[in-house]
Amino acid sequence: MLLHIPQVLTPTEVADIRQALALEGWVDGLLSTGPQAARVKRNQQLDPASPAFAPLSQRIAQALNRHPMFVSAVLPHTMLPPMFNRYECGGHYGNHIDNTIQTHRVNAQKVRTDVSTTVFLSSPDEYEGGELIAEDSYGTHEIKLDAGDAIVYPSTSLHRVEPVTRGMRVASFLWAQSLVRDAWRRAMLFDLDMTILKLRHQLGDAAEVVALTGHYHKLLQQWAET
Ligand code: NI
Repeated sequence: MLLHIPQVLTPTEVADIRQALALEGWVDGLLSTGPQAARVKRNQQLDPASPAFAPLSQRIAQALNRHPMFVSAVLPHTMLPPMFNRYECGGHYGNHIDNTIQTHRVNAQKVRTDVSTTVFLSSPDEYEGGELIAEDSYGTHEIKLDAGDAIVYPSTSLHRVEPVTRGMRVASFLWAQSLVRDAWRRAMLFDLDMTILKLRHQLGDAAEVVALTGHYHKLLQQWAET
């Protein structure tokens, strides 16, 4: 399931973060990459050791965690700190699959990457190219979202970022280990949760709505790993 999550950040928050990022030191994206991905990657990343990194990264994480759609779709167990990247002058990232296990750089915890998230920080009219292309069981998808919007997709998806031929594409990205490892089960729970929300809106706390909510929690109880 590829899920578009609108308005994770307000335009003011995007502008603030962009301004702070513009002042920072960027390093070659190859520094954070395994050997297969390194052959196809050409971009820059904000150095996680730079003083601005932690507060900016936390702002992105907090914004995602307060968005009910993100929480319902990802069911986060552990989130790695959001990172920042930028592409310009033909920069791109060829087809790859994200590393399945990543090490948290602060506490050295091993985190299984179930869900990948990209938060767009440039608006589409600022750059040409730079589409995120991701494959899932329904085919190939081309993603280019408004600044402040996010896309969530299974970390096992083959994906790439097309060359940026004009302007600059700035984004934040992160990985999360989900309470529910299986992408199909996560999608089922998400659909059920969203349907219950709509029913509750129409029917209030009718007995059937409460029963379905109970069903959701029983499934989560069966499938969640903590
Ligand atoms: Ni990737």
